[in-house]
Amino acid sequence: MEKRSVWGSKIGFILASAGSAIGLGAMWKFPYVMADNGGAAFLVLFMVFTLFIGMPLLLAEFVIGKHGKTYSTEVFGKITGNKYYNLIGHLGNVGVFFLLSFYSVIGGWILLYMMRTVYVIVTNQHTKNYETLFDQLISNPIYAVLGAALFIFLTAIIVSRGIQDGIEKASKIMMPMLFIAFIVIIIRSLTLPNAMDGVVYFLKPDFNALNAEGVLFALGQSFFSLSVGFGGMLTYASYLDKKTDIVQSAFSVVGLNILVTILAGLAIFPATASLGIDNAQGPGLLFIVLPYVFDQLPFGSIFYLIFLSLFFFATITSSISLIEINVSNAIKYEQKKRKKYVYFIALLLFILCVPSALSNGTLSQMKFLAGTFFDNMDYLVSNIMLPIGALCYALFAGYKLDGAIAKQELMDNKYRGLFKIWVFLLRYVIPLVILAVFITLMIK
Ligand code: PHE
Repeated sequence: MEKRSVWGSKIGFILASAGSAIGLGAMWKFPYVMADNGGAAFLVLFMVFTLFIGMPLLLAEFVIGKHGKTYSTEVFGKITGNKYYNLIGHLGNVGVFFLLSFYSVIGGWILLYMMRTVYVIVTNQHTKNYETLFDQLISNPIYAVLGAALFIFLTAIIVSRGIQDGIEKASKIMMPMLFIAFIVIIIRSLTLPNAMDGVVYFLKPDFNALNAEGVLFALGQSFFSLSVGFGGMLTYASYLDKKTDIVQSAFSVVGLNILVTILAGLAIFPATASLGIDNAQGPGLLFIVLPYVFDQLPFGSIFYLIFLSLFFFATITSSISLIEINVSNAIKYEQKKRKKYVYFIALLLFILCVPSALSNGTLSQMKFLAGTFFDNMDYLVSNIMLPIGALCYALFAGYKLDGAIAKQELMDNKYRGLFKIWVFLLRYVIPLVILAVFITLMIK
């Protein structure tokens, strides 16, 4: 097999992994799912799941990837000698493809809103009705499809440049900018009148408002927003050299992800509270509510553009990690053909993204099971495939991975106590929680 790429630096690896984690999960999905499922109670549950379930799984992906140093559809066979375990990798490969097909639709919305905001700044023509605007942009088949196509194309450009020049460079530039833009927006949001009502809503839990479905969502959210279960983090870790301390890296990624989830809440809820806008707006929350908020402010359009750029950075650093899973597996034997495969996969993705892109307009009446085509893809990936992927990773790392190997990769001398807890969580706690949540939902 030809030589594989490696990261240029440890910080490059951490920023790329944090970039993969931080994305629509923390910034777009979290606020509206939380508003629909008991507010701060959902936040608390999400944090518990992230620390005790997401984090050990992230470590499992890091250990397998760093040790195996190969592709997610090969590494399981390489470690055990039984190629059937590679099915775990294949499941992830299909999962990310599905995921990216609807992820890029939202990526497209962000791009459309960015272009429109630039137009507003230049022409000074404000709209007064943002529900209509959302419908016009998102339900227009041409805009929706072109937006998603552009988003996929931008993702492909970065990934076609490879690991160091593409993914690592993009993450190193975009991640620090993300945090700077966040600070600007949060200061603005927290200084609005009655902002504290929003902070209270965000931080004061009401556990009665949480039902079984909410628990499943919180669990799915902890996998989704840490990018675990499909082998994305495994793939990134496979580009590591021997020396990197993956425990420390995992703590950094989890810490940054929780931080952004909280920052996103602090940016959004004080603003909606200040204007008396209902948080339970579904997927349109950021696109319908926030323009109203920014409209009330001096230089509002500029702040909104900053907010959208921040959102765009977070989204594209995740989509590059998603497509990289497919790309890395496709170029297994032909490393030099990266560019060709990237654009080919991007084309396939574009085809699958069309029904999702049309789900808010032309196909909005075509509802089955969980709702529109878009809703079904999201439900299938986030609440079924991702938990199954996560379960497989927990069982594989807990029972099939040689303890000595795992210890060595985790630098046991430094983290001896942690190792035992990690194995316990992987073997018993994580599988039981995932199964319990599934069964509760089935008998409901
Ligand atoms: N973590 C990303 C987000 O929150 C989504 C993702 C899932 C990326 C799985 C890679 C793998 O937006």
